[in-house]
Amino acid sequence: MSVTIKSPAEIEKMRVACRLASEVLDYIGPYVTPGVTTGEVDRLCHRYMEDVQHTIPAPLNYAPPGYPPYPKAICTSVNHQVCHGVPGDKALKKGDILNIDVTVIKDGFHGDCSRMFIVGGESTILAKRLCQVTFECMWLGIAQVRPGARLGDIGHAIQRHAEGHGFSVVREFCGHGIGTKFHEDPQVLHYGRPGTGVELQAGMTFTIEPMINAGRAAISELPDGWTIVTKDRSLSAQWEHTVLVTPMGVEVLTLSAGCPAPPALVADALSS
Ligand code: MF3
Ligand code: CO
Ligand code: CO
Repeated sequence: MSVTIKSPAEIEKMRVACRLASEVLDYIGPYVTPGVTTGEVDRLCHRYMEDVQHTIPAPLNYAPPGYPPYPKAICTSVNHQVCHGVPGDKALKKGDILNIDVTVIKDGFHGDCSRMFIVGGESTILAKRLCQVTFECMWLGIAQVRPGARLGDIGHAIQRHAEGHGFSVVREFCGHGIGTKFHEDPQVLHYGRPGTGVELQAGMTFTIEPMINAGRAAISELPDGWTIVTKDRSLSAQWEHTVLVTPMGVEVLTLSAGCPAPPALVADALSS
């Protein structure tokens, strides 16, 4: 495994790509309403990337070994879909929970982030709690990031919070190094033991993107070869940021005007 350390010039390019990825989510938010199809959400994002940002949607035709080429510009995962949901003709309904995952390429560098959206602004108590706890899981993971910390510290913080709320952590998919390639080393597991795993160094860039299920952790893949769902059909949520390890701690790269602020429970950890 070889984890790349980004140079100051590369980091500057990562900052640009990552901010642009987050701005796609800012742009699409107002369109996420009952009656809109995920296919329409995809078309709007795709157009915004190409026409306004002059970015490339990294998912389009992405084909890691064993996968068919991904057919769309973004991933849209609804309710019991865990990740990699392929946009299509199905209309969103009030109360659906939707993850939109955007990865753009700008000047050869990737920025990758996702957020949850509650369609129509209202859902069940369980769905809202799952989205909030998953958001907190992502930020608790981010708050562990500093030189000398280990990947297991991140995974442990996420797992402890999710399981402490009676939820489960998806094991088969993880965060990842990112840069000129979409998925680089290291793998960033969302569960683990403190003090284990790769030691973080300033200049590393990777994603933290916990997938948390309301029911059991087990997943299955749909026949489209991409969409991942919970085996028990329970709800699933995910949030994702791309981060940089800095000499002082962490810089969240996928920030933009429309990002929800970090939750209260990490505010102290991050300002220290
Ligand atoms: N954006 C996803 C991630 O966070 C990867 C999606 S791969 C795709 O790693 F092909 F489904 F787009
Ligand atoms: Co990612
Ligand atoms: Co992503």
